[in-house]
Amino acid sequence: MYDIIEKKRDGLELNQEEIQFFIDGYTSNEIPDYQVSALLMAIFLQGMRAKERALLTMAMAESGDQIDLSAISGVKVDKHSTGGVGDTTTLILAPLVASLGVPVAKMSGRGLGHTGGTIDKLEAIPGFHVEITNDEFIDLVNTNKVAVVGQSGNLTPADKKIYGLRDVTATVSSIPLIASSIMSKKIASGADAIVLDVKTGTGAFMKELQDAEELAHAMVSIGNHVGRNTMAVISDMSQPLGRAIGNALEIQEAIDTLKNEGPEDLTELCLTLGSQMVVLGGKVETVEEARELLKESLSNGSALKYFKTMLKAQGGDNKVVDEPSLLPRAEFKIDLPAPASGFVSNMVADDIGVAASMLGAGRTTKDSVIDLAVGLVLHKKVGDKVEEHEPLLTIYSNNQDIEAVKDKLYDSIQISEEAVAKPTLIYETITE
Ligand code: URA
Ligand code: CA
Repeated sequence: MYDIIEKKRDGLELNQEEIQFFIDGYTSNEIPDYQVSALLMAIFLQGMRAKERALLTMAMAESGDQIDLSAISGVKVDKHSTGGVGDTTTLILAPLVASLGVPVAKMSGRGLGHTGGTIDKLEAIPGFHVEITNDEFIDLVNTNKVAVVGQSGNLTPADKKIYGLRDVTATVSSIPLIASSIMSKKIASGADAIVLDVKTGTGAFMKELQDAEELAHAMVSIGNHVGRNTMAVISDMSQPLGRAIGNALEIQEAIDTLKNEGPEDLTELCLTLGSQMVVLGGKVETVEEARELLKESLSNGSALKYFKTMLKAQGGDNKVVDEPSLLPRAEFKIDLPAPASGFVSNMVADDIGVAASMLGAGRTTKDSVIDLAVGLVLHKKVGDKVEEHEPLLTIYSNNQDIEAVKDKLYDSIQISEEAVAKPTLIYETITE
């Protein structure tokens, strides 16, 4: 290990044997944290070449269980978002893409965040269960083309240990380490092909566009090096996506979008990501053809039908699709009036996420309990005109004492006298 640290410290390229030695030794607790810390810092400072990144990704992907989806026919395309506020895309994309015959075998997480993960959101649907065996999971996808389940098994233990160490050694924000961490998990989950949604803006992990681009290129390059067709989209997270932020509220927003009545930005992002998934799934040649088919599926009810089937197959009450009152509902609905007339010029995504979390929509620690009913619904977004006292948003709360939440929201929303352009939603798509 000493020689490996020294080599990377001096800016040299590590070979397969060295990377394997480090990952195996760390996973089995034979190499101590202090040596891995030193290597991570050397990687942070010296970087890694494309080949090293691919080797690191595969070594981490193979460090624990690997999900075998080969019993599902067709190309299994996975989707990953680097995370944002009010991002409901997975719930829409899974049935939407499946409705064109591309199998979607989606494993999702709970995780820490401003709202729950996809799995928490799905639990707002009465009866829906996310813990099923791998065999059942495969059967569901073969029968219905779509299933969304929680992570099971011991996936990528090397990544878990390394991520924990990076967190305390100031080595999180390294492109090769982030890219290999994300890609190793997708590969261990059985993905044949991968679509990445890399967010940029105040609510994103990568706040600057240039960093988001670099991360996207790094992940696409790893995917293509290890035989997984990979594409990426860089999308805006300077304001929340769509209008709803909160678990049950986002389920409602997903249903609206599947009925082709969703917010424009959320619908557009789903069509963009969905088109890439359909192309990688081998259904059509071009994203333009894919987009037309997806739009048809939203307008003719086919995507919604797949959603209903998925709910029922996993024990959920699919009447929620037509009866929103079946979803958990907050006791109080409180409008937040605009303090002045003008144009919304800024809605700081992460601060709005924090406000939703203060209501109980998210987890602050691994063990926090989420309130599935609470959250925010935005009536205005950046670029919209607003009159004084008109509601900017509605707060859904189970507590009437929300002064601190209101203060947080007022601090995160700016109104200007001059008209403001809507932010760009899709910056770029990266295919190689
Ligand atoms: N998300 C991950 O999964 N890994 C990282 O390293 C950073 C973000
Ligand atoms: Ca949303």
